[in-house]
Amino acid sequence: MKPRAISDRVLAVGAIDWDRRLFDSLIPLPDGTSYNAYLVQGSEKSALLDTVDPTKRDELMSQLAGIERIDFVISHHAEQDHSGAIPDVLAKYPQAKVVASTKAKGMLLDLLEGIPEDRVITVEDGEELSLGDKTLRFVYMPWVHWPETMITYLLQDRILFTCDLFGSHLATSDLYADEARVYEPAKRYYAEIMMPFRRAIARHLERVRQIDPAVIAPSHGPVYRRPAFIIDAYDEWVSAPPRNRVIVPYITMHGSTARMVEHFVGALMERGVEVEQFNLASADIGKLAVSLVDAATIAVGTPTVLGGPHPTVLAAAQLAAVLNPKLRFAAVFGSYGWGGKAAEQVAAIVERADIEILAPVLCKGIPREADFVALESLAETIAVKHREQGFA
Ligand code: FEO
Repeated sequence: MKPRAISDRVLAVGAIDWDRRLFDSLIPLPDGTSYNAYLVQGSEKSALLDTVDPTKRDELMSQLAGIERIDFVISHHAEQDHSGAIPDVLAKYPQAKVVASTKAKGMLLDLLEGIPEDRVITVEDGEELSLGDKTLRFVYMPWVHWPETMITYLLQDRILFTCDLFGSHLATSDLYADEARVYEPAKRYYAEIMMPFRRAIARHLERVRQIDPAVIAPSHGPVYRRPAFIIDAYDEWVSAPPRNRVIVPYITMHGSTARMVEHFVGALMERGVEVEQFNLASADIGKLAVSLVDAATIAVGTPTVLGGPHPTVLAAAQLAAVLNPKLRFAAVFGSYGWGGKAAEQVAAIVERADIEILAPVLCKGIPREADFVALESLAETIAVKHREQGFA
Protein backbone atom coordinates (compact mmCIF):
# COMPACT_ATOMS: atom_id res chain seq x y z
CA MET A 1 0.00 0.00 0.00
CA LYS A 2 1.24 3.52 -0.86
CA PRO A 3 0.87 6.57 1.41
CA ARG A 4 -2.43 8.36 0.80
CA ALA A 5 -2.83 12.15 1.14
CA ILE A 6 -5.58 13.53 3.34
CA SER A 7 -4.36 17.11 2.97
CA ASP A 8 -1.35 19.01 1.60
CA ARG A 9 1.69 17.13 2.99
CA VAL A 10 -0.45 15.13 5.39
CA LEU A 11 -0.24 11.44 4.51
CA ALA A 12 -1.96 8.34 5.87
CA VAL A 13 0.77 5.72 6.19
CA GLY A 14 -0.73 3.05 8.42
CA ALA A 15 -1.68 -0.56 7.82
CA ILE A 16 -4.94 -2.36 7.18
CA ASP A 17 -5.27 -5.61 9.11
CA TRP A 18 -7.89 -7.44 7.07
CA ASP A 19 -7.43 -10.80 8.79
CA ARG A 20 -7.27 -9.93 12.49
CA ARG A 21 -10.19 -11.52 14.29
CA LEU A 22 -9.37 -10.97 17.95
CA PHE A 23 -8.00 -8.04 19.95
CA ASP A 24 -6.48 -8.35 23.43
CA SER A 25 -7.32 -12.07 23.15
CA LEU A 26 -10.84 -10.94 24.06
CA ILE A 27 -12.59 -8.66 21.58
CA PRO A 28 -13.92 -10.21 18.36
CA LEU A 29 -13.04 -8.25 15.22
CA PRO A 30 -15.54 -9.46 12.59
CA ASP A 31 -14.49 -6.68 10.20
CA GLY A 32 -10.73 -6.69 10.89
CA THR A 33 -9.15 -3.36 11.81
CA SER A 34 -6.53 -0.83 10.79
CA TYR A 35 -3.68 0.92 12.57
CA ASN A 36 -3.57 4.41 11.12
CA ALA A 37 -0.38 6.44 11.28
CA TYR A 38 -0.12 9.90 9.74
CA LEU A 39 2.90 11.77 8.40
CA VAL A 40 2.76 15.57 8.66
CA GLN A 41 5.47 17.30 6.65
CA GLY A 42 6.01 20.93 7.59
CA SER A 43 8.34 23.31 5.75
CA GLU A 44 11.07 22.64 8.32
CA LYS A 45 10.29 19.45 10.22
CA SER A 46 8.27 16.29 9.81
CA ALA A 47 6.26 14.38 12.38
CA LEU A 48 4.86 10.87 12.33
CA LEU A 49 1.68 10.63 14.39
CA ASP A 50 1.47 7.14 15.93
CA THR A 51 2.87 3.98 14.35
CA VAL A 52 1.29 0.55 13.90
CA ASP A 53 0.90 -2.79 15.63
CA PRO A 54 4.25 -4.64 15.73
CA THR A 55 2.81 -7.33 13.46
CA LYS A 56 2.50 -4.66 10.73
CA ARG A 57 5.84 -2.93 11.22
CA ASP A 58 7.09 -3.99 7.77
CA GLU A 59 4.03 -2.40 6.16
CA LEU A 60 4.73 0.91 7.90
CA MET A 61 8.43 0.85 7.12
CA SER A 62 7.78 0.12 3.46
CA GLN A 63 5.50 3.17 3.28
CA LEU A 64 8.25 5.24 4.86
CA ALA A 65 10.86 3.92 2.42
CA GLY A 66 10.94 7.14 0.40
CA ILE A 67 10.71 9.45 3.41
CA GLU A 68 14.13 10.85 4.19
CA ARG A 69 13.43 12.72 7.39
CA ILE A 70 11.23 12.29 10.42
CA ASP A 71 12.00 14.59 13.35
CA PHE A 72 9.23 13.66 15.75
CA VAL A 73 7.14 10.58 16.45
CA ILE A 74 4.00 11.70 18.25
CA SER A 75 2.79 8.93 20.55
CA HIS A 76 -0.82 9.63 21.51
CA HIS A 77 -1.24 6.38 23.38
CA ALA A 78 1.23 3.83 24.69
CA GLU A 79 -0.78 0.74 23.74
CA GLN A 80 1.22 -1.42 21.41
CA ASP A 81 -1.13 -1.35 18.41
CA HIS A 82 -0.03 2.29 17.99
CA SER A 83 3.34 2.39 19.71
CA GLY A 84 4.66 -1.02 18.72
CA ALA A 85 6.71 0.14 15.72
CA ILE A 86 8.20 3.24 17.39
CA PRO A 87 11.53 1.41 17.96
CA ASP A 88 11.71 0.63 14.22
CA VAL A 89 11.09 4.28 13.31
CA LEU A 90 13.69 5.47 15.82
CA ALA A 91 16.20 3.04 14.38
CA LYS A 92 15.65 4.32 10.82
CA TYR A 93 15.63 8.01 11.79
CA PRO A 94 18.40 8.56 14.37
CA GLN A 95 17.53 12.25 14.83
CA ALA A 96 13.87 11.53 15.63
CA LYS A 97 12.45 12.14 19.11
CA VAL A 98 9.32 10.60 20.55
CA VAL A 99 6.80 13.20 21.76
CA ALA A 100 4.38 12.02 24.44
CA SER A 101 2.34 13.15 27.42
CA THR A 102 4.17 13.10 30.72
CA LYS A 103 2.31 9.97 31.78
CA ALA A 104 2.88 8.25 28.46
CA LYS A 105 6.65 8.51 28.67
CA GLY A 106 6.97 6.07 31.55
CA MET A 107 4.42 3.75 30.01
CA LEU A 108 6.26 3.64 26.67
CA LEU A 109 9.49 2.80 28.46
CA ASP A 110 7.72 0.10 30.48
CA LEU A 111 5.91 -1.49 27.56
CA LEU A 112 8.47 -1.39 24.77
CA GLU A 113 12.08 -2.30 24.20
CA GLY A 114 14.26 -0.15 21.98
CA ILE A 115 13.20 3.33 23.14
CA PRO A 116 16.14 5.10 24.87
CA GLU A 117 14.83 7.42 27.57
CA ASP A 118 16.76 10.40 26.19
CA ARG A 119 14.86 10.10 22.92
CA VAL A 120 11.50 10.80 24.54
CA ILE A 121 10.39 14.38 25.14
CA THR A 122 7.19 15.23 26.98
CA VAL A 123 4.64 17.91 26.23
CA GLU A 124 2.01 19.50 28.40
CA ASP A 125 -1.67 19.95 27.68
CA GLY A 126 -2.11 22.73 25.11
CA GLU A 127 1.58 22.87 24.16
CA GLU A 128 2.39 23.49 20.50
CA LEU A 129 5.15 22.15 18.27
CA SER A 130 6.11 24.03 15.11
CA LEU A 131 7.06 22.08 12.02
CA GLY A 132 7.58 25.33 10.06
CA ASP A 133 4.42 26.17 8.19
CA LYS A 134 2.44 23.53 10.11
CA THR A 135 1.79 23.55 13.84
CA LEU A 136 0.76 20.68 16.09
CA ARG A 137 -1.18 21.43 19.28
CA PHE A 138 -1.34 18.66 21.86
CA VAL A 139 -4.53 18.19 23.84
CA TYR A 140 -4.53 15.92 26.87
CA MET A 141 -7.54 13.65 26.76
CA PRO A 142 -7.04 11.11 29.56
CA TRP A 143 -9.03 7.89 29.72
CA VAL A 144 -9.74 7.41 26.05
CA HIS A 145 -9.07 4.73 27.05
CA TRP A 146 -5.87 4.72 29.10
CA PRO A 147 -4.72 7.38 31.57
CA GLU A 148 -1.96 8.77 29.32
CA THR A 149 -3.98 9.40 26.15
CA MET A 150 -3.75 12.68 24.27
CA ILE A 151 -4.80 13.89 20.82
CA THR A 152 -3.23 16.33 18.37
CA TYR A 153 -4.71 19.20 16.40
CA LEU A 154 -3.01 20.30 13.19
CA LEU A 155 -3.94 23.99 13.25
CA GLN A 156 -3.48 25.03 9.62
CA ASP A 157 -5.32 22.03 8.15
CA ARG A 158 -7.86 21.79 11.00
CA ILE A 159 -7.29 18.04 11.29
CA LEU A 160 -7.80 16.44 14.70
CA PHE A 161 -5.83 13.22 15.19
CA THR A 162 -7.67 11.34 17.92
CA CYS A 163 -5.95 7.92 18.07
CA ASP A 164 -8.43 5.46 19.64
CA LEU A 165 -11.15 8.06 20.29
CA PHE A 166 -13.75 7.92 17.49
CA GLY A 167 -12.04 4.84 16.05
CA SER A 168 -13.65 1.80 14.49
CA HIS A 169 -12.38 -1.72 14.03
CA LEU A 170 -13.05 -1.75 10.32
CA ALA A 171 -10.69 -2.93 7.62
CA THR A 172 -11.66 -1.02 4.50
CA SER A 173 -9.99 0.41 1.43
CA ASP A 174 -12.03 3.58 2.02
CA LEU A 175 -9.78 6.34 3.31
CA TYR A 176 -12.85 8.37 4.27
CA ALA A 177 -15.85 7.14 6.20
CA ASP A 178 -18.91 5.85 4.42
CA GLU A 179 -21.15 6.93 7.27
CA ALA A 180 -23.77 4.22 6.80
CA ARG A 181 -21.04 1.58 6.70
CA VAL A 182 -18.96 2.80 9.64
CA TYR A 183 -21.77 3.53 12.11
CA GLU A 184 -22.09 0.01 13.51
CA PRO A 185 -18.33 -0.72 13.74
CA ALA A 186 -17.82 2.68 15.40
CA LYS A 187 -20.59 1.96 17.89
CA ARG A 188 -19.15 -1.47 18.56
CA TYR A 189 -15.74 0.11 19.12
CA TYR A 190 -17.26 2.63 21.51
CA ALA A 191 -19.09 -0.12 23.39
CA GLU A 192 -16.06 -2.34 23.78
CA ILE A 193 -13.32 0.22 24.35
CA MET A 194 -14.72 3.60 25.35
CA MET A 195 -18.01 2.98 27.20
CA PRO A 196 -16.32 2.25 30.56
CA PHE A 197 -15.05 5.84 30.43
CA ARG A 198 -18.20 7.54 29.18
CA ARG A 199 -18.24 10.18 31.92
CA ALA A 200 -14.74 11.36 31.00
CA ILE A 201 -15.68 11.23 27.33
CA ALA A 202 -18.71 13.46 27.93
CA ARG A 203 -16.31 16.18 29.10
CA HIS A 204 -13.90 15.57 26.24
CA LEU A 205 -16.67 15.92 23.65
CA GLU A 206 -17.16 19.52 24.76
CA ARG A 207 -13.51 20.20 24.13
CA VAL A 208 -13.61 18.55 20.71
CA ARG A 209 -16.59 20.71 19.75
CA GLN A 210 -14.69 23.83 20.85
CA ILE A 211 -11.74 22.83 18.68
CA ASP A 212 -14.17 22.60 15.75
CA PRO A 213 -12.03 20.42 13.46
CA ALA A 214 -12.73 20.11 9.75
CA VAL A 215 -11.52 16.50 9.74
CA ILE A 216 -11.19 13.83 12.45
CA ALA A 217 -8.49 11.26 11.75
CA PRO A 218 -8.55 8.37 14.24
CA SER A 219 -5.99 5.58 14.40
CA HIS A 220 -8.50 2.78 13.71
CA GLY A 221 -10.91 2.79 10.78
CA PRO A 222 -11.66 5.50 8.24
CA VAL A 223 -11.21 9.28 8.47
CA TYR A 224 -14.24 11.50 9.11
CA ARG A 225 -14.68 14.41 6.71
CA ARG A 226 -17.86 15.37 8.55
CA PRO A 227 -16.82 15.38 12.22
CA ALA A 228 -20.38 16.13 13.39
CA PHE A 229 -21.36 12.61 12.31
CA ILE A 230 -19.14 10.86 14.84
CA ILE A 231 -19.29 13.59 17.53
CA ASP A 232 -23.11 13.53 17.50
CA ALA A 233 -23.11 9.73 17.57
CA TYR A 234 -20.81 9.76 20.61
CA ASP A 235 -23.03 12.36 22.27
CA GLU A 236 -26.00 10.04 21.93
CA TRP A 237 -24.13 6.92 23.04
CA VAL A 238 -22.62 8.72 26.03
CA SER A 239 -25.40 10.98 27.23
CA ALA A 240 -28.84 10.12 25.80
CA PRO A 241 -31.21 8.31 28.20
CA PRO A 242 -31.37 4.54 27.73
CA ARG A 243 -34.06 3.14 25.48
CA ASN A 244 -37.09 1.01 26.26
CA ARG A 245 -35.01 -2.09 25.63
CA VAL A 246 -34.13 -5.26 27.55
CA ILE A 247 -31.03 -7.33 26.84
CA VAL A 248 -31.40 -11.02 27.66
CA PRO A 249 -28.10 -12.91 27.74
CA TYR A 250 -28.62 -16.52 28.76
CA ILE A 251 -27.37 -20.07 28.76
CA THR A 252 -29.47 -23.20 28.78
CA MET A 253 -28.26 -26.71 29.58
CA HIS A 254 -31.32 -28.95 29.30
CA GLY A 255 -33.86 -26.49 27.90
CA SER A 256 -35.57 -25.11 31.03
CA THR A 257 -33.93 -21.71 30.94
CA ALA A 258 -34.52 -21.53 27.16
CA ARG A 259 -38.25 -22.08 27.75
CA MET A 260 -38.21 -19.28 30.31
CA VAL A 261 -36.40 -17.00 27.84
CA GLU A 262 -38.98 -17.71 25.16
CA HIS A 263 -41.88 -16.87 27.45
CA PHE A 264 -40.23 -13.83 29.02
CA VAL A 265 -39.19 -12.32 25.67
CA GLY A 266 -42.74 -12.79 24.38
CA ALA A 267 -44.16 -11.14 27.50
CA LEU A 268 -41.90 -8.13 27.06
CA MET A 269 -42.79 -7.80 23.38
CA GLU A 270 -46.50 -7.91 24.20
CA ARG A 271 -45.90 -4.92 26.47
CA GLY A 272 -44.15 -2.91 23.78
CA VAL A 273 -40.63 -3.41 25.14
CA GLU A 274 -37.76 -3.93 22.68
CA VAL A 275 -35.81 -7.11 23.40
CA GLU A 276 -32.56 -8.66 22.22
CA GLN A 277 -31.72 -12.14 23.39
CA PHE A 278 -28.24 -13.63 23.23
CA ASN A 279 -27.56 -17.33 23.64
CA LEU A 280 -24.12 -17.05 25.19
CA ALA A 281 -23.12 -20.49 23.97
CA SER A 282 -22.53 -18.95 20.55
CA ALA A 283 -23.14 -15.20 20.90
CA ASP A 284 -20.70 -12.58 19.63
CA ILE A 285 -19.89 -10.67 22.83
CA GLY A 286 -19.19 -7.59 20.71
CA LYS A 287 -22.83 -7.56 19.61
CA LEU A 288 -23.88 -7.93 23.22
CA ALA A 289 -21.68 -4.94 24.08
CA VAL A 290 -23.26 -2.85 21.29
CA SER A 291 -26.74 -3.67 22.57
CA LEU A 292 -25.77 -2.60 26.06
CA VAL A 293 -25.04 0.94 24.84
CA ASP A 294 -28.74 1.86 24.70
CA ALA A 295 -30.49 -0.70 26.90
CA ALA A 296 -32.34 0.25 30.09
CA THR A 297 -32.46 -3.27 31.52
CA ILE A 298 -30.42 -6.46 31.51
CA ALA A 299 -32.20 -9.70 32.39
CA VAL A 300 -29.80 -12.60 32.75
CA GLY A 301 -30.98 -16.18 32.30
CA THR A 302 -28.92 -18.93 33.87
CA PRO A 303 -29.14 -22.52 34.99
CA THR A 304 -27.51 -23.40 38.29
CA VAL A 305 -24.16 -25.19 38.04
CA LEU A 306 -22.39 -26.40 41.18
CA GLY A 307 -24.44 -24.04 43.30
CA GLY A 308 -23.87 -20.92 41.23
CA PRO A 309 -24.54 -19.43 37.81
CA HIS A 310 -23.24 -21.11 34.67
CA PRO A 311 -19.59 -19.97 34.26
CA THR A 312 -20.31 -18.53 30.80
CA VAL A 313 -23.08 -16.39 32.30
CA LEU A 314 -20.70 -15.33 35.05
CA ALA A 315 -18.16 -14.11 32.47
CA ALA A 316 -20.83 -12.24 30.49
CA ALA A 317 -22.15 -10.57 33.65
CA GLN A 318 -18.65 -9.47 34.57
CA LEU A 319 -18.14 -8.04 31.09
CA ALA A 320 -21.47 -6.18 31.24
CA ALA A 321 -20.49 -4.74 34.61
CA VAL A 322 -17.05 -3.47 33.59
CA LEU A 323 -18.36 -1.96 30.35
CA ASN A 324 -20.38 0.42 32.56
CA PRO A 325 -23.42 0.83 30.28
CA LYS A 326 -26.35 3.13 31.02
CA LEU A 327 -28.44 0.31 32.50
CA ARG A 328 -31.00 1.24 35.17
CA PHE A 329 -32.49 -2.18 36.01
CA ALA A 330 -31.21 -5.74 36.26
CA ALA A 331 -32.96 -9.06 36.81
CA VAL A 332 -31.95 -12.73 36.98
CA PHE A 333 -34.04 -15.73 36.09
CA GLY A 334 -33.39 -19.40 35.48
CA SER A 335 -33.77 -22.91 36.70
CA TYR A 336 -32.10 -25.06 39.33
CA GLY A 337 -32.11 -28.69 40.30
CA TRP A 338 -31.79 -28.69 44.05
CA GLY A 339 -30.68 -25.21 45.17
CA GLY A 340 -27.87 -22.71 44.98
CA LYS A 341 -27.10 -19.01 44.81
CA ALA A 342 -27.08 -18.32 41.07
CA ALA A 343 -29.33 -15.25 41.23
CA GLU A 344 -27.52 -13.67 44.16
CA GLN A 345 -24.12 -14.16 42.55
CA VAL A 346 -25.12 -12.62 39.21
CA ALA A 347 -26.87 -9.72 40.95
CA ALA A 348 -23.78 -9.04 43.04
CA ILE A 349 -21.72 -8.67 39.86
CA VAL A 350 -24.03 -6.28 38.01
CA GLU A 351 -25.01 -4.31 41.13
CA ARG A 352 -24.25 -0.59 40.96
CA ALA A 353 -25.54 2.43 42.88
CA ASP A 354 -27.73 3.55 39.99
CA ILE A 355 -29.00 0.07 39.01
CA GLU A 356 -32.11 -1.36 40.68
CA ILE A 357 -31.97 -5.13 41.06
CA LEU A 358 -35.43 -6.60 40.44
CA ALA A 359 -36.78 -9.70 42.19
CA PRO A 360 -35.44 -12.89 40.53
CA VAL A 361 -37.59 -15.61 38.97
CA LEU A 362 -36.22 -19.07 39.66
CA CYS A 363 -37.89 -22.36 38.90
CA LYS A 364 -37.11 -25.85 40.10
CA GLY A 365 -36.58 -28.09 37.11
CA ILE A 366 -38.95 -27.54 34.20
CA PRO A 367 -40.82 -24.21 34.27
CA ARG A 368 -44.51 -24.61 34.98
CA GLU A 369 -47.53 -22.33 35.01
CA ALA A 370 -46.59 -20.49 38.20
CA ASP A 371 -43.13 -19.79 36.80
CA PHE A 372 -44.56 -18.37 33.58
CA VAL A 373 -46.88 -16.16 35.65
CA ALA A 374 -43.84 -14.93 37.58
CA LEU A 375 -42.07 -14.13 34.31
CA GLU A 376 -45.15 -12.21 33.12
CA SER A 377 -45.02 -10.26 36.35
CA LEU A 378 -41.32 -9.47 35.86
CA ALA A 379 -42.01 -8.30 32.29
CA GLU A 380 -44.85 -6.10 33.57
CA THR A 381 -42.63 -4.62 36.27
CA ILE A 382 -39.96 -3.77 33.70
CA ALA A 383 -42.47 -2.23 31.27
CA VAL A 384 -43.95 -0.06 34.04
CA LYS A 385 -40.55 1.04 35.32
CA HIS A 386 -39.44 1.96 31.80
CA ARG A 387 -42.58 4.05 31.36
CA GLU A 388 -42.09 5.72 34.75
CA GLN A 389 -38.52 6.65 33.82
CA GLY A 390 -39.64 8.06 30.48
CA PHE A 391 -37.79 5.41 28.45
CA ALA A 392 -40.96 4.16 26.75
FE1 FEO B 1 -5.90 1.12 19.58
FE2 FEO B 1 -5.89 1.41 22.91
O1 FEO B 1 -5.20 0.97 21.28
